[in-house]
Amino acid sequence: MNIALIGQGFMGRAHSNAYNQVAHFFELKHRPRLKLLCGRRADELRTMAARWGWEETTTDWREAVTRPDIDVVDIAAPNSLHAPIAIAAAEAGKIVFAEKPMANTLDEARRMAAAARGVRTMVWFNYRRVPAIAFAKRLIEEGRLGRIFHYRATYLQQWGNDPSRKSGWKLEKAVAGSGVTGDLLSHLFDTALELNGPVSRLSAMQTTFEAGREIDDAAAVMVEFANGSQGTFEATRYAVGAVNQNRFEIHGSRGMVRFNLEDLNRLEFHDATIDAAEQGPRSILVTAPAHPYGTNFWKPGHIIGYEHTFIAALGDFLRAVERDEEFHPDFGDGVAVQSVLDAVERSAASGAWTTPEKAGV
Ligand SMILES: NC(=O)c1ccc[n+]([C@@H]2O[C@H](COP(=O)([O-])OP(=O)(O)OC[C@H]3O[C@@H](n4cnc5c(N)ncnc54)[C@H](O)[C@@H]3O)[C@@H](O)[C@H]2O)c1
Repeated sequence: MNIALIGQGFMGRAHSNAYNQVAHFFELKHRPRLKLLCGRRADELRTMAARWGWEETTTDWREAVTRPDIDVVDIAAPNSLHAPIAIAAAEAGKIVFAEKPMANTLDEARRMAAAARGVRTMVWFNYRRVPAIAFAKRLIEEGRLGRIFHYRATYLQQWGNDPSRKSGWKLEKAVAGSGVTGDLLSHLFDTALELNGPVSRLSAMQTTFEAGREIDDAAAVMVEFANGSQGTFEATRYAVGAVNQNRFEIHGSRGMVRFNLEDLNRLEFHDATIDAAEQGPRSILVTAPAHPYGTNFWKPGHIIGYEHTFIAALGDFLRAVERDEEFHPDFGDGVAVQSVLDAVERSAASGAWTTPEKAGV
C-alpha cells in the first residue's frame, strides 16, 4: 500500500513511525510502503525522508493526490488544509487519513465526508486505541458500570502561559479554526461519543486570556447525553502545572472508571458490586494478554507509550481493509464530533443551551 504523507512536523513523525512499525506488531498481508513525503521545507524534508525511510519527497501536496501510484493520502498538516486535501484526494479515489480536528467547520467536515463516500477513511483519533480506554469501553459494554450518571472529562495543558510560545499556526484562527475547542475538545468528545453515546444538548463557554487573540484559550461545557447522564468537559492551555492531562471519569450505578493520559498504561476501576468492605478504586496495569492490544506489543507490565496508539490505529485500519470490515473512527465519526464542536461554538456565542445538528452528511 503506497502512502503519501503530508506534513513533516510532530504528527508527520508520529505517523512515519507507525508506518515503519505496524507490520512488526500486527499480522498483515499488506505492508505500508513509505512512498512520498510532502512538506513545505525541501531541505528538512530530505533529512526527514532519510531518517524515516521515505522514498521520495515533494513540496506540493497536489502531487500526492494526482499520482496514480499513491493508494493512501495521509493529512498531518495544519487544520485549514484538511478539507481541501481530503476532498481532492477522495475525488481522486484515494484512501484518506486526516488528523484531528477533522475540519475547521461542520460544513467542511460534511463536504469531506460527502466526497469520501466511495473510499475508505480514517480520522486519527488515536486515543481510542489506548489499551486502557479500549478496556474501559469493554467494561461499559459488559455492563460493569451499570447505568451511567456522570461523564467528566478534562484536557489540561499549560503551554499557553509560556511567553516563548506566543505565536504559531495553532494560535491563528484562519489556520487552526479554533483554539482548544478543535484541538483538545475534539479528542475528549470523540472518546465520549465512543464510550457514552450521543450528546442531546450542551451549554458552553469559551475564554480567550491573551489580548488580541481570535481563538479560545479555554473552554468549559455542560452536557446532557442521550442516555440521560450528565457530562462536564473542560479544555485549556492555561492549566499551569498540567502538561498533557487528557483525563476522564465515568460514574455508573455499578462502578467507576478513571483515566489520565499522563499515566496511559493504567485504568482505575471501582467495582461497586463487591463486598462493601473491600470496595475502592483499583489501579489496573492494562498490559496483560487479556487486555486490548495485550498480545500486540510487549510482555505484561512492559509498558507502552504514546506512539503505540498510532501503530494500533493503523494496524486496526489495515486489518479492516484486509477483512473487508468497517473501521472506526472514519469520516462519519469525524462529522459527529465536528457537530458537537459546532454546537459548542454556537452555544458559547449565544449563551444558550444548544442541540448539536444531526451528524449525517
Ligand atoms: N492525534 C493527535 O494526538 C494530534 C497531536 C498533535 C497534532 N495533531 C494534529 O495534526 C495536524 C498537524 O499538527 P502538528 O502538531 O504535526 O503540526 P506541526 O506544525 O508540527 O506540523 C505541520 C506540518 O505541516 C506542514 N505544512 C504546512 N503547510 C503545508 C502545505 N501547504 N503543504 C504541505 N505541508 C504543509 C508543515 O511544514 C509542518 O511540517 C493538526 O491538524 C493537529 O491538530 C494531532
